[in-house]
Amino acid sequence: MSDTALRNADIDAALAEAKEAYVTRNPKSLARYVEATTVMPGGNTRTVLHYNPFPVAMVRAEGCRMWDADGAEYVDFLGEYTAGLYGHSHPVIRKAIDAALDNGISFGASNMTEARFAKAVCERFGLERVRFTNSGTEANLLAISVARIFTKRKKVLVFDGAYHGAVFGFAGGGSPINAPFDYVMAPYNDVEATRAVIATHANDLALVILEPMIGSGGCIPATHDFLRMLRAETSRVGALLIFDEVMTSRLAPGGLQSVSGVKPDLTTFGKYIGGGMSFGAFGGRGEILDLFDPRRPDALPHAGTFNNNVLTMSAGLTGLTQVYTPDAALALNARGEALRARLNALCDAAGAPMQFTGIGSMLAVHMTRAPIRSPGDAAAADQKLKELFFFDLLAHGVWLARRGMMTVSLPIGDAECDQLAGAVQEFLSARRSLLR
Ligand SMILES: Cc1ncc(COP(=O)(O)O)c(C=O)c1O
Repeated sequence: MSDTALRNADIDAALAEAKEAYVTRNPKSLARYVEATTVMPGGNTRTVLHYNPFPVAMVRAEGCRMWDADGAEYVDFLGEYTAGLYGHSHPVIRKAIDAALDNGISFGASNMTEARFAKAVCERFGLERVRFTNSGTEANLLAISVARIFTKRKKVLVFDGAYHGAVFGFAGGGSPINAPFDYVMAPYNDVEATRAVIATHANDLALVILEPMIGSGGCIPATHDFLRMLRAETSRVGALLIFDEVMTSRLAPGGLQSVSGVKPDLTTFGKYIGGGMSFGAFGGRGEILDLFDPRRPDALPHAGTFNNNVLTMSAGLTGLTQVYTPDAALALNARGEALRARLNALCDAAGAPMQFTGIGSMLAVHMTRAPIRSPGDAAAADQKLKELFFFDLLAHGVWLARRGMMTVSLPIGDAECDQLAGAVQEFLSARRSLLR
């Protein structure tokens, strides 16, 4: 056997052992899963939460800690894929939700909170107008649709490996259940190749949509040159530039766009901005958003039973104005930067083929030392080692995404960062022979 084949066989054996221990530790999660498979396909209603042999079921959470069905405690470094920025049951947000509940749940009418929340979102992220939806997926659906109408063009430029919601998955060439727009694809962070794709479709390109840092695909920041080129080229050909800041708006007081200095025409939002409730929004230039102004004879319709639901409006407004203030955003992201630097120093000291990419409070592990500039680079890294990392961290009481993504939420303090660093060091030491 070659060296590589031997190493792969060793990783397979370590993974099998880690999964066996996982099954032994989690009998109640297994029983729940088996029961769930009788009424839900694969026991699942949210694909990302499934992993083999079966997912852990959580029963309780508080602050940055969670407890599973079998009684194990975890530090929550997943933070609900960025939506859990406030941690579990933040007292100030909880109070806002309780107060809203006291006045009734759903009015079927305009309410006193929605415009205040809209104002807070517009001021914070530099938008002229905003509209609310119930999810980030919906926000992207609406933003793409209105961009096509505004430009009177059809084509939608997306990036290979991007994710913009349930019907906007572009890993591996695109998901079969994607919304049926006329897509063209370009490679993320590749200035010249993308410029060429835009030029090819110049006359029929409605929009370019991207995250200023790819989230799901591995916390991969866009280069400044790439963003600047996109701004210049979309303006030149008359297409709109849409930033999906569903995840990244948390990375700086005014969203990641405020750091890059590149201003899109439209921005989409979601996740934590609803204070932990279902949320989505799209906003930006007034002349585009005003196509929805219902006073216009030619107004575009935009429906949504829960678009202005009082729980989201209240939790979101309180969170953005009283808890995740601009100062709090700066402090949280500084904490995340320091943590990522600390973890990377551990990888360097061990000489391991492993690194943590990201910005501020979002980070992701990759089992390679090669630079990660695109989701393709991330996919080329060792996936089995990453799976082993996941199971080893669970065993050490660290909750993270199966794909290796983590976030730092507000209740995470020094003790939790120490626990994560300890678990990473333990992985580096215990798995040293596999990390060659
Ligand atoms: C960048 C990005 N856009 C859109 C979405 C979709 O948001 P939602 O899950 O609220 O539909 C996600 C969700 O993970 C996301 O990461």
